[in-house]
Amino acid sequence: MSFLPPGAYKPAVDHWGSFQKLSKRLPEGSLAVVDKTVVGFHPGLIPALEARNPRAIVQITGGERAKNFASLEKVLSESLSLPRSGTLVVVGGGTLGDVATVAAHLLKRGVRLVQVPTTLLAAVDSSLGGKGAVDLTLRGRVVKNPVGVFHYADESWICPELFTSLSEDQHREGAIEAWKMVVCLDGPLFRRYMRKAPALDKLVKDARRLKESVCSQDPYEQTGLRRVLNFGHSFGHVLESLSRFKLSHGDAVGLGMLCALDVGRAMGVTPEKVATQVEEALKQGPGVLGRDRIASLIRRTPLGDVVELLAADKKAGKSGELRMILLTAIGSFEILDVSEATWRNLWPAWKQGIRP
Ligand SMILES: NC(=O)c1ccc[n+]([C@@H]2O[C@H](COP(=O)([O-])OP(=O)(O)OC[C@H]3O[C@@H](n4cnc5c(N)ncnc54)[C@H](O)[C@@H]3O)[C@@H](O)[C@H]2O)c1
Ligand SMILES: [Zn+2]
Repeated sequence: MSFLPPGAYKPAVDHWGSFQKLSKRLPEGSLAVVDKTVVGFHPGLIPALEARNPRAIVQITGGERAKNFASLEKVLSESLSLPRSGTLVVVGGGTLGDVATVAAHLLKRGVRLVQVPTTLLAAVDSSLGGKGAVDLTLRGRVVKNPVGVFHYADESWICPELFTSLSEDQHREGAIEAWKMVVCLDGPLFRRYMRKAPALDKLVKDARRLKESVCSQDPYEQTGLRRVLNFGHSFGHVLESLSRFKLSHGDAVGLGMLCALDVGRAMGVTPEKVATQVEEALKQGPGVLGRDRIASLIRRTPLGDVVELLAADKKAGKSGELRMILLTAIGSFEILDVSEATWRNLWPAWKQGIRP
């Protein structure tokens, strides 16, 4: 008998198979949160859920704009009759997964959560690791994830047929987050990927194994180890915000990794050869966007806005210093404070879309 409350860390439990088959695992009377867009592509989802006699099926159109208090309230208000022993299942990408994680944490002070990631990004990253959050709008600009919880899923269902409706862009965005983990954590695997591009299932399995290994050692982000998962995210989040979320999270992180490689080189932490190899791999592998995209996003941005966005980022140190994950080699990293002067020096080159 386990005395762990719902949502407490436990090693990830993954089930692979069709949604039709795995949905039979869902206890009757559960609450389902489903991305409406996904339902459009996979009409069999709703009948499979209905067969489990759910309390309610809440359909929300996924997307960064849905990652807010309005969606959270919608889920919570449909869930009031869910008992504390109940289950919330979320079928969607990272945005609905994050909202549902917060809801599962708040409902009755915590109910059981099942994650069914429908984007590659959610499969390799967001559906694992217990984090959920909603965004806030600050003076007209969206600040990502300032309000959140840790609430680990009881299990995840990986249903490869759900990924068939993803576009090429969505594949790239997810692959970028998977490569992020390989680049920082597993040199030998990186070299294998360079020799032969991994199949989708393998990419998902490898990324989930790497992420789980980090989360198991630092489930509540206390030792600092987990920060490695934020490689590329400091400037990634800035770019995402400056684009007003027209740039997807995955693509923003891809460009943010290029910025992190530049910062690492400028500080003498990332060897030139490593930075060149990783940048090339990110282009060849997942297909990171070109540096011209960084330029077009920051060309007209006052530096003051960037300073503010970086400071609002919750990865900042105690006195607001910028703390970044920098590669020391492929498969290893350091977490270091970066002075404002360091990234300001790189800004003119970034603004022109060239490698500093
Ligand atoms: N909690 C975490 O640890 C963590 C980690 C990484 C990212 N995130 C968050 O995840 C979010 C990004 O996740 P995302 O890229 O999955 O975004 P998303 O949920 O917005 O999905 C992207 C788009 O794809 C659509 N979609 C979803 N599944 C689909 C399918 N099977 N076929 C076709 N279209 C589909 C959605 O409706 C949406 O329009 C960000 O908010 C980010 O902050 C969280
Ligand atoms: Zn991310």
